[in-house]
Amino acid sequence: MKIAKHVSKLSSYVPGEQPSSTKVIKLNTNENPYPPSPQCAKVLKTFAAGKLRLYPDPESTKLRKAIAEICNAREECVFVGNGSDEILALVARAFVEDNEAIGSLNPSYSLYKTIAAIRNVQWRGIATLGESLAPKKKGESPISLFLLTNPNAPTGEWREMSEIAAFAKKFPGVVLVDEAYADFARGNSMEIATARGNNNVIVMRTLSKSYSLAGLRVGYCIGPEKLISALYKIKDSYNIDAIAQAVALAAVTDQKWMKKNAQRVIATRKRFTAELVKRGWDVIPSESNFVFAKPPAGNKAEDVFKALKKDGIFVRYFNGPKTKDRLRITIGTDSQMKKLIHATEKLILR
Ligand SMILES: Cc1ncc(COP(=O)(O)O)c(C=O)c1O
Repeated sequence: MKIAKHVSKLSSYVPGEQPSSTKVIKLNTNENPYPPSPQCAKVLKTFAAGKLRLYPDPESTKLRKAIAEICNAREECVFVGNGSDEILALVARAFVEDNEAIGSLNPSYSLYKTIAAIRNVQWRGIATLGESLAPKKKGESPISLFLLTNPNAPTGEWREMSEIAAFAKKFPGVVLVDEAYADFARGNSMEIATARGNNNVIVMRTLSKSYSLAGLRVGYCIGPEKLISALYKIKDSYNIDAIAQAVALAAVTDQKWMKKNAQRVIATRKRFTAELVKRGWDVIPSESNFVFAKPPAGNKAEDVFKALKKDGIFVRYFNGPKTKDRLRITIGTDSQMKKLIHATEKLILR
């Protein structure tokens, strides 16, 4: 039995825990605390099981059309993926040669590094977009694909569209702007993706966060037709199942519902941030549905993470050099955030 060398030595991505108990307050994977549009429930209730006898539309045509309309893009410029994670795997295959590398901010979505390892190419992180991307050491490959999360995860930091446009203009390869959390932010970069003359920027979104559909697995991206058609060439034949296509269509068609929930999350984020700051936490201003927060001096983030878990409150801890002092806390309902604050009152030393 032979396993490819790069797969044998790969450490796989560790997603946030999905506890089986529903009693847990789950603030560890940036899911939405509110349900998806009632139109999604309607579709599920009326979906005829007999339809599953047939393969789904390989190009998710209706969904693709609806997304194109919402994003003011041409249909040919829209790709629908099995979650945005599928799109990340596809761009790594489509836009990176074996002797090239994938770049991203550091810290950023930790899956990027794994995506590069699975693709068997190098990954390099930079702290700011102004930093040089050129290979510094012997053996370093040039970066041909840059995965730029905005707002960034796990920090929640926001970058203006002008900064992203300037970066992309100078970058010789493909820039994928990962806007998983853009509906919770003050803006987005979709205009760069849909602009005439754009030849290297793709903007990616997911239905997992603002649309409350993490369990469905639908994401999409928009960019130059040439790049998008490359993704269609290499995707699985039927990458979006029939139920997901129908439910996702109902969700994106109900923009009002999504926006209302995003506003509720933003309002709770503001209140929760203020409560943490009042209690001596250092909170990076967030434009996302989570905050990246450092407990008051004298308290180790990892200890707080473990103590909260014992109390049935799950948050996320990343034990890396740039992340180990903070916790990433998803914004839930006001009541969940109050319970978290209450739990920290007992365990935080001040
Ligand atoms: C920055 C970022 N991009 C993409 C994803 C994945 O989204 P999806 O559920 O569409 O695969 C996540 C999920 O946490 C994320 O944080």
